[in-house]
Amino acid sequence: MTDHTIEKGIEWEYAPSIQDTEMVSIAETYGLFINGAFVDPGEGETFATINPATEEHLALVSAAGSADIDLAVTAARNAFENVWGPMKPSERAKYLYRIARLLQERAREFAVLETLDGGKPIKESRDIDIPLVAAYFFYYAGWADKLDYAFPGIEPKPVGVAGQIIPWNFPMLMLAWKIAPALAAGNTVVLKPAETTPLTALLFAQLCNEAGLPDGVVNIVTGDGRTGAAIVDHPGIDKIAFTGSTGVGKSIRRALAGTGKKLTLELGGKGAHIVFDDAPLDQAIEGVINGIFFNQGHVCCAGSRLFVQESIRDEFLDKLRSRLDTLRVGNPLDKNTDVGAINSAAQLQRIEALVTTGRDAGVDMFQSSCELPAKGFWYAPTVFTDVSQSHRIAQEEIFGPVLATMTFRTPDEAIEKANNTPYGLSAGVWTTKGSRILWMADRLRAGVVWANTFNKFDPTSPFGGYKESGFGREGGRHGLLPYLEGPWS
Ligand code: NAI
Ligand code: MG
Repeated sequence: MTDHTIEKGIEWEYAPSIQDTEMVSIAETYGLFINGAFVDPGEGETFATINPATEEHLALVSAAGSADIDLAVTAARNAFENVWGPMKPSERAKYLYRIARLLQERAREFAVLETLDGGKPIKESRDIDIPLVAAYFFYYAGWADKLDYAFPGIEPKPVGVAGQIIPWNFPMLMLAWKIAPALAAGNTVVLKPAETTPLTALLFAQLCNEAGLPDGVVNIVTGDGRTGAAIVDHPGIDKIAFTGSTGVGKSIRRALAGTGKKLTLELGGKGAHIVFDDAPLDQAIEGVINGIFFNQGHVCCAGSRLFVQESIRDEFLDKLRSRLDTLRVGNPLDKNTDVGAINSAAQLQRIEALVTTGRDAGVDMFQSSCELPAKGFWYAPTVFTDVSQSHRIAQEEIFGPVLATMTFRTPDEAIEKANNTPYGLSAGVWTTKGSRILWMADRLRAGVVWANTFNKFDPTSPFGGYKESGFGREGGRHGLLPYLEGPWS
C-alpha cells in the first residue's frame, strides 16, 4: 500500500511553467488609432512602455496632443452622425458579437500582452481579465437591440461622442467596461489607455478593423495626463467616463462644471473586509488573501482593510501569516505565480511611502519571506496588525499588496469602523449567518458588498461607488444609463 501521509516541513520541488510569448508581436513604434487607421501624432512625440517585471523596453507609443484629439473627436462625430448612430441596433449588435468572438479567439495573445506590458500574473490575465472582457462585449451586444425593453416607454437616444480615460490596473477590462456599453447604446468613442499599459488597447484597435467596425466608431489615443486633459477639454465631447485616482477625478469634475458634458467617475477605494468569529476561517483566509493580493493589490475595490472579530484575532492572524509565505511572488509569465510585478516605479514609490508612514507610527507588521527578483518593480505581500482608524494606512488607498488589520467586537462596531472612510466602493462580510449578511449589507456604505467571497465580477452586475469613490455605475443594465439620453439625464 502506498503511504499517503505528508511529512511536515518537506521541501517540495518547484518546477516553473513559463508561458511562451511567441504569439505576440509588438511593433517598434505605434501611431494613434484615428478613423480606422494608425496615424503619426501631429507633433511626432513618442514615449516608451516597458515590462515592469524586467524593465525591458517593449515599444514606443505616440503622445497625442490637442490637434490629434481634435482629429479623433471629429472622426468619432462623423461616425456617430453618419454611420453608427443611424445604424439599425440589430446591426450594431452584430459588430459587438463579432468583437467578442474575436477576443475569445485571440484570448491568449491578449493575455500574454497584458502581462508583458503591465506585470500581472498570466494566471489572472488568462483566466480572469480577458475572459471577462469577452463576456462584457457579449453581454452588451445582447442589449444593443433591446434598449426599448431595457427602458420601456422612453425610447432612449445615444449621447453622442464619449471620451473615455482608463487606468493601468485592468487595461483591457476597463476598456471593455467603457467601450462595450457605449457602442451598444449607439455612441462612438475616443479612448485613452494609461501610459504604462497602452499595448493591449492598440491591439484591440487592430481587432476593431478585423471585425470590420466602421471607421471612427472606436478611436484609441495614447498619451499621459495631458492627453487625458485634452479629451476632457474638447468641446466636441458629449460625455466623459473616467476611472483612476480621486485627485484626477476631482480635477475632471471641476473642468466639466457648467459645460453640460455628462460625467461618470470610478475612483479609488479602501474596501473593508469583515470576518466574524462564526466564519469558516480557512475559506475566509483565502478570501482575504484574494481580496488584497489579487493583481498585486492594484484594485480599486481591494479589501485593503481587514476587520477581524476580536475573539479570533490571534488565530486568524496566525493562519494569515502562514498563508502569506505560500504565495508565489515573481515572474508574471510563470503559470504558478500568484503575485506579479508592481506596475511602475512611480507606483512602487507610492506604496513604499505609505508603508513608511505606518512603520514610523510604530504599527507592527509582517511580510512574506519570498525572495524578490533583482530587476523590475516588486513589493513583498505585507500585513499591518493592530492599525488605528487614524493611521494613514487605514485611511488612504495604498493600491499595492498591503493589508491594514483592525479588530471589532460587535456588528455595530464593525459597521461604524468599516464606514469610517472617505471612500465607498466595496466591502466583504464573512459569517455563516445569512441574516447577519443582510443586516450588514444594509448598513455598509459601499457600492458592492460581497458575502463569503470577494473580488467577483460579472457583466450583469452594476459596479460603482459612493462618496470619494465616484458616481455612476458600470456593468448591468445600469451601465447603459450614462450612455443614453433619457429622463435621468
Ligand atoms: P491617474 O488617475 O493619474 O491615472 C489614471 C488615468 O488618468 C491615466 O490614463 C492617466 O493618464 C489619466 N490622467 C492623469 N491625469 C489626468 C488629467 N489631468 N486629466 C485627464 N486624465 C488624466 O492615476 P495614477 O497616477 O496612475 O495612480 C495614482 C493613484 O490613483 C494610485 O496609487 C491609486 O491609488 C489610484 N488609482 C485608482 C484606480 C482605480 O481603479 N480606481 C486606477 C489607477 C490609480
Ligand atoms: Mg508597460
